Amino acid sequence: MPRIVETIVTTMNATGEAHIAPLGLIEEGDVWVIAPFRPSRTLDNLRQVPFAVASHTEDVRVFAGCLTGRKTWPMRPAEKVTGVVLDSAVSHWELAVDGVSEDELRPRFSCQMVHTVSHRPWGGFNRAQAAVLECAVLVSRLHMLPPEKVEAELKYLEIAISKTAGQREEEAWGWLMERIVAWRAQRGQTF
Ligand SMILES: Cc1cc2nc3c(=O)[nH]c(=O)nc-3n(C[C@H](O)[C@H](O)[C@H](O)COP(=O)(O)O)c2cc1C
Repeated sequence: MPRIVETIVTTMNATGEAHIAPLGLIEEGDVWVIAPFRPSRTLDNLRQVPFAVASHTEDVRVFAGCLTGRKTWPMRPAEKVTGVVLDSAVSHWELAVDGVSEDELRPRFSCQMVHTVSHRPWGGFNRAQAAVLECAVLVSRLHMLPPEKVEAELKYLEIAISKTAGQREEEAWGWLMERIVAWRAQRGQTF
């Protein structure tokens, strides 16, 4: 299995509007692959403006926020490519698309690393951050996962939240739980 780095990807459309979405970048030798499922604004933007910025942030509210309609996060222009960088990034990568492998479900944009920048010291591993990321992935797939699997995973992830979360992780978890509560209600569950 290739290594995948979960990150915040920003892209631009032809009129210069930025779009933000959490995506996994797939490492393939010295290229990084962005593989958006159709339909996707990230996909449309990469066809219009073939650059992407991957911002690596410890503020997991950005991951949870993007999936719950909170997409306004402070940004600044990228240094070498057309795009924007998240202000909270510990480091970021600037990427240029150098090929597309078409697919009905999930086209693959292969990217060259054009520029990497380190902004501040990395703060170390935190289990609650990982739990928020896992929960954000679950929330992005609620429409296709078996409900029992979602509930079992949530039960496990809650342990890391209750034992190790700080304020930012708790807030991010709360946003995701609002989505889970709405999804349960839709299915007629009352807990
Ligand atoms: C950690 C994480 C990784 C994700 N990786 C991908 C990915 O590789 N491809 C994808 O299509 N969606 C991925 N998603 C879901 C997208 O962020 C979400 O569906 C998003 O809205 C993409 O669509 P957009 O470009 O139209 O915003 C991921 C979500 C999370 C939380």
